Amino acid sequence: MEIQDRVVITGAASGIGRAGALLFAERGAAVVLLDREPAGAAVAAEIRDRGGDAVFAACDVSDAESVKDAFAAAVPPGTRLSGVWSNAGVAHYQGLAETSVETWNTIIGTNLTAAFLVTRAALPFLGRGASILFTGSISSLHGAENFAAYCASKGGLLMLAKALARELAPRGIRVNVIAPGAVDTPMQHADMLARPVPYAEAVAAELAAHPLGRYASPHEVAASAYFLMSPASSFTTGATLLVDGGFSA
Ligand SMILES: NC(=O)c1ccc[n+]([C@@H]2O[C@H](COP(=O)([O-])OP(=O)(O)OC[C@H]3O[C@@H](n4cnc5c(N)ncnc54)[C@H](O)[C@@H]3O)[C@@H](O)[C@H]2O)c1
Repeated sequence: MEIQDRVVITGAASGIGRAGALLFAERGAAVVLLDREPAGAAVAAEIRDRGGDAVFAACDVSDAESVKDAFAAAVPPGTRLSGVWSNAGVAHYQGLAETSVETWNTIIGTNLTAAFLVTRAALPFLGRGASILFTGSISSLHGAENFAAYCASKGGLLMLAKALARELAPRGIRVNVIAPGAVDTPMQHADMLARPVPYAEAVAAELAAHPLGRYASPHEVAASAYFLMSPASSFTTGATLLVDGGFSA
């Protein structure tokens, strides 16, 4: 029930994507890491140092040309991909009235349009049994104040996944969403710092909203992502897997 071939992971320089890259490689998958941050190259080097198979390509996943170029550089013709995990994302805590069109477009572009672009680029390399995964969020399902652009982008991923699950089912390709609650990553810390209350107070409120009373580790989210990307979930498509410590319970 292990992943057999190469997997593309976006947002692999940090947080959940980095944990996924390390976990997938540890379990024997070859990984193609995409990120706009050069730190992704260090993650690939770390994997190779441990005897794994990893390549990195710099990529702005919200930009169609950049995605095309990254695939041309890192996924040679004839490659067979087991799957693609569109995980890169950005969050911005801001009221709607203060949100510029530029900020809106950046959030929708990075969190939603990128999933379309990366999936479209990967499709020629995906065969029967392949798996596509999007990183959604509890914000895919629950509204949050001062988070409208983020919630809209993450909610959009659910319907993109459902539509593609039906469209790609005849080709034996599955499409799912993973929806984490608060995860201990740089994004989460930046989000807490952006709140209009002291950091400790913001964190306490966040933890209180999660019945398990703590952040998820990036590794915990990566482990659930591995399940959805592997043949262990072979009859699951169009689904959303909550990894939210009971937030939605
Ligand atoms: N941390 C949380 O609490 C949490 C909760 C729910 C969902 N998520 C989602 O998980 C995913 C990963 O977030 P994380 O917490 O690991 O954050 P992170 O900031 O640690 O990592 C995000 C990565 O995405 C990359 N990235 C951002 N914009 C990009 C772009 N345009 N092109 C290429 N790469 C880009 C960043 O460089 C970074 O390496 C995101 O989609 C986020 O929305 C996070």
